[in-house]
Amino acid sequence: MRAITTAVASGKGGSGKTTFSINLACFLARTGKKVLIFDADVGTANVHIAFRKKITDTLIDVIKGTAEIQETIQELAPNIHLISGGSGYTDFINLGIDKIHLTIQAFAALEGVYDHLIVDLPAGISELVVEIMKASDNNFIIGNNDPSSVADAFALLKVLKSHQENINVIFTPNKVETPAEAQSLYHKINSLSEKYINLSLRFYGGITASKDYNLSWASGIPCCLEETASKASVEIGSIAKGLCQPAENTQSGVRFVL
Ligand SMILES: Nc1ncnc2c1ncn2[C@@H]1O[C@H](COP(=O)(O)OP(=O)(O)OP(=O)(O)O)[C@@H](O)[C@H]1O
Ligand SMILES: [Mg+2]
Repeated sequence: MRAITTAVASGKGGSGKTTFSINLACFLARTGKKVLIFDADVGTANVHIAFRKKITDTLIDVIKGTAEIQETIQELAPNIHLISGGSGYTDFINLGIDKIHLTIQAFAALEGVYDHLIVDLPAGISELVVEIMKASDNNFIIGNNDPSSVADAFALLKVLKSHQENINVIFTPNKVETPAEAQSLYHKINSLSEKYINLSLRFYGGITASKDYNLSWASGIPCCLEETASKASVEIGSIAKGLCQPAENTQSGVRFVL
């Protein structure tokens, strides 16, 4: 069985991509799945910080040819491994399409090891973001309820649609006060998307604003790693249930296969 691949993006920075990625990974790991996180925020990677780990080898070493992908894997917690994009490497901000494709293809060396690959993307619209989303089975766009977040998410959707007609996008409202607010934000952006670019978005629920998520960063223990049936675990869990299985070779182009 191939790994389910999931990219996490947003138009606007700070919407909660990394917080969602790590808590989704923790939830899945707690249900017994083996999860690999790829911190594709190359240059300003920070997933390791949430687990109070130091990174040594990174994806940059694989791109430079000085390490094999297997050598860059680090354990964050039981059943959760990390490949980090590294931080502070300004030379690698613009990888270029060929290196992006080589990076995606490098994951084939890990075939059969993981149940899930979760890719935490940088904010904004770039070749890296678009190519990784085209290569993934599930694509989350994390958005907040403010006009600039909606505008930036819609800008990303337009670019994605122009690159891949049938891309699978799940719009996930974050930092909302109530489930009703999440529904209404989803309807707002889905209406725009259906009307202007003929793309229907999926919705598996929203994420409420909660200090539990901030504490994930403050304590070094993401809230969904803990055993308790917290509100955060319940909402992340219900989103996780919607994840689509790997597509059956119907998608063209360079895809994650592991
Ligand atoms: N549901 C939530 N409730 C409360 N705080 C949240 C929630 N989600 C994220 N945050 C907080 O928002 C801030 C930004 O989150 P995060 O770093 O995950 O965003 P990001 O989209 O990955 O940012 P960047 O674009 O810089 O990569 C953090 O302080 C985090 O604790
Ligand atoms: Mg981030």
